[in-house]
Formats: sequence, C-alpha cells, structure tokens
Amino acid sequence: MRKLDTKTIVVASHNGGKIREIAELIGPFGFSARSAAELQFEEPEETGTTFEQNAAIKALASAKASGLPALSDDSGLMVDALGGAPGVYTANWAEREDGSRDFQMAMEKVENALQEKHLTRADQRTARFVSVLCLAWPDGHTELFRGEVEGTVVWPPRGEKGFGYDPIFKPNGYDTTFGEMSSDEKHGWSRGEPEALSHRARAFKRFVETCLEA
Ligand code: IMP
Repeated sequence: MRKLDTKTIVVASHNGGKIREIAELIGPFGFSARSAAELQFEEPEETGTTFEQNAAIKALASAKASGLPALSDDSGLMVDALGGAPGVYTANWAEREDGSRDFQMAMEKVENALQEKHLTRADQRTARFVSVLCLAWPDGHTELFRGEVEGTVVWPPRGEKGFGYDPIFKPNGYDTTFGEMSSDEKHGWSRGEPEALSHRARAFKRFVETCLEA
C-alpha cells in the first residue's frame, strides 16, 4: 500500500456533483485539489465493465496528464430486482441523443423498469449505491477503495439538495432520500456515523485509513 506524500492532487472528474463532494471530503485534510474539468483534461472513454476498471482509467488519465497523484470516483446505482442495473451504466441511462444528461429521465427509466415488473413494495425495491475511488500516481501505481450503502428506490423523487439519482434513493434506517439531506447528513458526518453514510464517504474513509494515516 502506497502512502500519499504530497498535499496537491487532481480530482479526476468532470462531474460537478462528485467534484463538490470529494472537495468536501478531502477539505479537512488540507489538500489543494484541482479537478480534471478545471484543468480542461479530456474525459477518457470508460471502456471497463467494472467500477474498479473505470475508476482506474479515469485516475490514470489525470495522473499522467498532470504529473500529480489523481483521485477518481466511479460509481453507480445497483437495483436488485433489475439484476444490478443500471450499475456501471448509471451515467449512460441519463444520456440524451445530443450527449447532454437528463437525470429526471434516468430516474424515470429506473421507475418504469420496476413498474413493468409490478414492484411497488419497499422490500421489492432494494438497491445500493456503489463508489470505487482510485488513487493513481503518474508512474502507473494505483490503489482502489470501495464503499457501498444499502437502501430502497422510492417514487416520486424527493429533494433538490443532491445530484444524479439522489432524489430516489433512501438509505436504510433513514426517512429521507439523499436528495433531501444536507451534504453533512449524506456524508454521515451530522450524526457521527462510525462508518460514514454515503457510498462515496465510506470509500473515502478507506482511502484515508490506507493512504493518509500513518
Ligand atoms: P460515472 O461514475 O461517472 O460513470 O457515473 C456515475 C453515475 O452514478 C452518475 O450518473 C451519477 O449521477 C450517479 N451517482 C453516483 N454517485 C451518486 C450519488 O452520490 N448520488 C446520486 N447519483 C450518483
């Protein structure tokens, strides 16, 4: 396991919601972080079939382009009754023909797929969010960290605070969706969750334990 010995990293993402959350998560550790979007790096094609492969593709592209360690996130929503879909294709489900992304449409696709199977009870709509963070160095070394959070898909969408599919995901043990939570609540910081709450915050905790703590 390689430790991170620089305080400057690149956040290997072009997704505004993820960049904001990763900035919040690394903020307390005193990093100066610039995103691949800010640095105008080209977005690499996500040709992998696993979260791990796609996270590594993104982190390595930014590490090589910048000469600095780069942290990426590949994530998605896995709905049990849909065989784990949309999974690694979660972002693709939001793509319109003109290349723009529409998450209202993407959430409707998930709901329609559940409705087609007549799945309306909460226990039939179990799902998890998965995040794999990859820290890559310019020499090609990578470290991977996975975080997951279990919950259910709700309809209609609730809350405007998050991004992506947040309004239809209610984590187990909570009455609110991620879309109704403040950032601190979604990270699991507001009630001191020992394991953090969101998939991203859980993966980030593993990154801290492995690459930052002595
Ligand atoms: P990718 O990792 O860039 O391939 O895309 C991940 C997809 O999952 C995006 O469409 C996100 O909107 C969605 N996603 C990942 N994490 C979250 C989250 O924390 N909340 C809501 N949607 C998420």
